[in-house]
Amino acid sequence: MMSNNSWNKHYAEGCKRLKKVEQISGVLSVFNANIDAVKIVNTENWNIWLRHASVSKEDILLVEKHEINCKGAFFKGLLDAFSKGIAQEWLITDLSLYHWLKEDVGHDKLQMGGQGGIIANALSLCEVEHVLVHAASLPKEQASLFLDRENLLSVNMDGKLMKACDAIRDCDIPLIHWIFEFKKGDTIELGDTVYTCPKSNRFIATWDPLNFKLTIDNGFVHAVEKVEYPINYCLLAGYQMLTSPLSDGSSPLERILESKKVVQNWQKNQKEMTVHFEFASTQDVTVREMLLSEMGSWVDSIGLNEQELIDLLLIIGEKEIADECLENTHAVPLYKGLEKIFTYTKVKRIQLHLFGLYITLLRGAEEKDAENTRAGMVMAAMVAASKAGSGALESREDLYWAKGQSVSDVSLSELSDLASLLNSLYSVDEEEFVSGGICVHGDMTIVATPTIIVEKPVTLVGMGDTISSLSLIGADKNLAD
Ligand code: GLC
Repeated sequence: MMSNNSWNKHYAEGCKRLKKVEQISGVLSVFNANIDAVKIVNTENWNIWLRHASVSKEDILLVEKHEINCKGAFFKGLLDAFSKGIAQEWLITDLSLYHWLKEDVGHDKLQMGGQGGIIANALSLCEVEHVLVHAASLPKEQASLFLDRENLLSVNMDGKLMKACDAIRDCDIPLIHWIFEFKKGDTIELGDTVYTCPKSNRFIATWDPLNFKLTIDNGFVHAVEKVEYPINYCLLAGYQMLTSPLSDGSSPLERILESKKVVQNWQKNQKEMTVHFEFASTQDVTVREMLLSEMGSWVDSIGLNEQELIDLLLIIGEKEIADECLENTHAVPLYKGLEKIFTYTKVKRIQLHLFGLYITLLRGAEEKDAENTRAGMVMAAMVAASKAGSGALESREDLYWAKGQSVSDVSLSELSDLASLLNSLYSVDEEEFVSGGICVHGDMTIVATPTIIVEKPVTLVGMGDTISSLSLIGADKNLAD
């Protein structure tokens, strides 16, 4: 295997960057924060749930729609994600199923959930000066999951910005999502078939009446309008819970456009604010199409994982590449897919995070931008590995859990496969790309970074959110030496 000396050097730079994140004045983390009820899936649990639910093999296997509208559909979603080792989020559309999960399945622990909530905690720990987090609901159970930190703010009942963990809105209802985590090599059975999980991952079952319609708190909207310090980034997420139509019959497009209006209004006072959109697992195809067209033609930056990329390829008519990516979920086909989506949108930046490698495409970038982007990506990779290895980012030391670890051989081999592809497509110097991770083709800059892989991750949920937000913020040009 090739030497990873150059990557040790790049990682050391990334680590230095982390110390400078305190120079970022403000970040908005909107719109979804919720409570994650985490439950580990294993053979024994699976069998108990199945027995208690009294569903047959057919009840499960015949389910087609990606929504939890009966017990069989819950098992189908979980089985699908488990047996393929993929991340999925399915919405619960019937309140009685939420109660069933609460009573019969329960949870092992509660933790901060929702991209908005997870990112806010992570950025606050990284010492961004002001992290403003939106929460559609903020009862005590939710507020207590925000880190107790002075730089992490949300609004209370009177619309006043204050420490998020104290901004309790007593009348709000808790929004609980079930996170079923499973590990590579675990098995579950259905009838005579044994399914072995090929890759550690998670299945999310979501009941969230407020975020289902992208509820935006007016108090927060007005409080942000009045902020006087610079807000450098607005990180958007939570749209994956929309459905077409919404349960009241209205169109999700209205909600998407309303949120856009809110952000554009904030931009009047915050002219330099970069807007990033985190795609997330969006099961409703109509919503996915709307998001691609509305966000793809508006935001500055998009973040996604391999499964989300495949979902998008399907809606832009790139079935062949989507199938190739499904069959071989590795850097080469995924890169081809990423370039298709990049060309389809107008964004200046898109980032894909896959197992072992992150790839960012930039439009019209300068040499310095590419180096900053790489520094942000390795900084994010170190923190993400720290999160996986330590189980949670709760103290400053947790951020550095993975400091000094080398990138994995799997990652370097993904990078080298990508280098050969880029060589065949654009005559890129392979050796240079493998050691630097940067190349330019016309108007497009390609940045790829191999990651540190944690062999036995304590947790995986929220990993993508951490990677996307930190890569973007860590690339800020003001953090360069
Ligand atoms: C989605 C889920 C949420 C989870 C998050 C992790 O937002 O709804 O429960 O915490 O993904 O990325």
